[in-house]
Amino acid sequence: MKVVIRENALEGSIWAAHYIADRINEKAAKTSEPFVIGLCTGSTPIETYAELGRLVKAGKVSFKNVISFNMDEYVGLPESHPESYHSFMHKNLFDFIDEPAENIHILNGNAKDLDAECAAYEEAIIKAGGFDLFLGGIGEDGHIAFNEPYSSLNSRTRVVDLTEDTRIVNSRFFDNDMNKVPKQALSVGVATVTGSKEVVLLVMGPKKARALRDAVEGPCSHKCTASALQLHEQATIVCDEASVGELTVNAYRYFKALY
Ligand code: PGA
Repeated sequence: MKVVIRENALEGSIWAAHYIADRINEKAAKTSEPFVIGLCTGSTPIETYAELGRLVKAGKVSFKNVISFNMDEYVGLPESHPESYHSFMHKNLFDFIDEPAENIHILNGNAKDLDAECAAYEEAIIKAGGFDLFLGGIGEDGHIAFNEPYSSLNSRTRVVDLTEDTRIVNSRFFDNDMNKVPKQALSVGVATVTGSKEVVLLVMGPKKARALRDAVEGPCSHKCTASALQLHEQATIVCDEASVGELTVNAYRYFKALY
């Protein structure tokens, strides 16, 4: 695992956007096969998406041959709801890049048969060729996508129950009323993420300090599902100085010196 520590969240976010653009360009230079990317939502990726939009506008990268799959969506929230992840993605990324609409995949949390929706999603990922890069965030409880503590590290896309902790954290988007936060979501599994050739996690701010410590220095355990990345050969965590407070001095120095 690599841990890239940048001075602040903006620098880390911009670093990640350029890293992703470089990966897309590298593949495009080698093959006409599409670049398959996993995408996350939340407060953390917003600046990375803004920079990707700028890079597309400046002609530095194109998403014309990129296929994307988002990691999760709430169950039962209309797609048009301002806090649906459909709305989020269009508002923060898709409206500013040149990815063809037919290449965009987001789980349908209103599907009649949610299990069938999840199974079809896994199949579509395989059909697209599997992920080249999965961009994720981390929850305060160490979750990756909506894989809450004690989710199987072998899990695949499925219906998940959101913990009270996560619903309280996310209530900031729902008038600070936890009762307005859906109780369930559809989420890719831990193994869906770790099945990607490469994983990049964005971890910013002091509220993520314990989750960062558990993911990097804790045991690889279902208690912190992001710790599954310890077993991945190409995992990069991009974080800021504000999030490293719980790392040991040794780990901090090691990663600072290398990256
Ligand atoms: P955040 O969410 O970026 O809004 O902190 C991340 C997550 O819960 O995975």
